[in-house]
Amino acid sequence: MEVIRTAVAFRGLTDGWREAGATVGLVPTMGSLHLGHVALIRRARAIADEVAVSIFVNPRQFEDPADLARYPRDEPADLAVCEREGVGAVWAPPDDEVYPPGLELPVPDPGPVGAIFEGAARPAHLEGVLTVVHRLFDVAGPCRACFGNKDAQQLFLVRRMVRDLLLPVEIEAVATVREPDGLAVSSRNVRLSDEERAQAGCLFLALSEAAALARAGERDASVLIATMAREIGATPLASLDYASVVDEQTFEPVRTLEGPARALVAARFPHARLLDNLPLPEPDP
Ligand code: PAJ
Repeated sequence: MEVIRTAVAFRGLTDGWREAGATVGLVPTMGSLHLGHVALIRRARAIADEVAVSIFVNPRQFEDPADLARYPRDEPADLAVCEREGVGAVWAPPDDEVYPPGLELPVPDPGPVGAIFEGAARPAHLEGVLTVVHRLFDVAGPCRACFGNKDAQQLFLVRRMVRDLLLPVEIEAVATVREPDGLAVSSRNVRLSDEERAQAGCLFLALSEAAALARAGERDASVLIATMAREIGATPLASLDYASVVDEQTFEPVRTLEGPARALVAARFPHARLLDNLPLPEPDP
């Protein structure tokens, strides 16, 4: 497995793969790799001949410098995971290879979807994500890139950017990997106290209740939202940030379930903010 630092060397490697007739799978990450990332790597290996993982804690998507400073970093452990999973190369660049001084990179506009949910509390966050993902796609060249449904809003915006800008990248979505109680695996989960961790399953429970109602024929999004809010509201250490139901095609909140939709929740615990989502089954006509 090659560990690459510079953008030029990374492009040289993927160019070589493509010249040899191989398809390139790309897994963008911020490191601190867990079973969610492993699922992405395995999917990339299944859909592409050669796989590269990028590890870069992107300063532009952090609003709070303290949050950036305490983001977990463990490169040796991450490289061991990649090696074990049969990754061909890891691109782990320093900041100035991603953001070369003096070079003005395109800053893709997330539009109105960038200002709601995850963008409401952190206005620059999703713009920062699109900026780094655009740069990453530019450096990697034509590839198949895997993203988790765990970050559904990010995935939606990346897909839209690829479509709007005609980027030579195919996006592959991977289902959320969960703990036995349903909690989505996340690098932020380690911050939860034992008591918080014991209650953190409430997000998945809330989403599952909404999905069960939709399956039973409920079409009124406000009923699903109230159910999710009640479940999280009844959890002593959780405070609801948002609960919503969005259209899969537009990511805009819907009032009535008519086509493919997704339920979203975010909640604050004393030591971490958690988010999760589930696709809603479409009720029978
Ligand atoms: P990071 O949080 O490291 O996540 C990297 C990828 O792993 C994302 O596509 C995310 O959706 C996926 N992922 C995280 N937890 C998952 C889980 N439990 N199951 C399945 N997939 C999961 O998301 C980012 O980094 C950054 O914003 C990035 C896209 C790398 C840009 O900086």
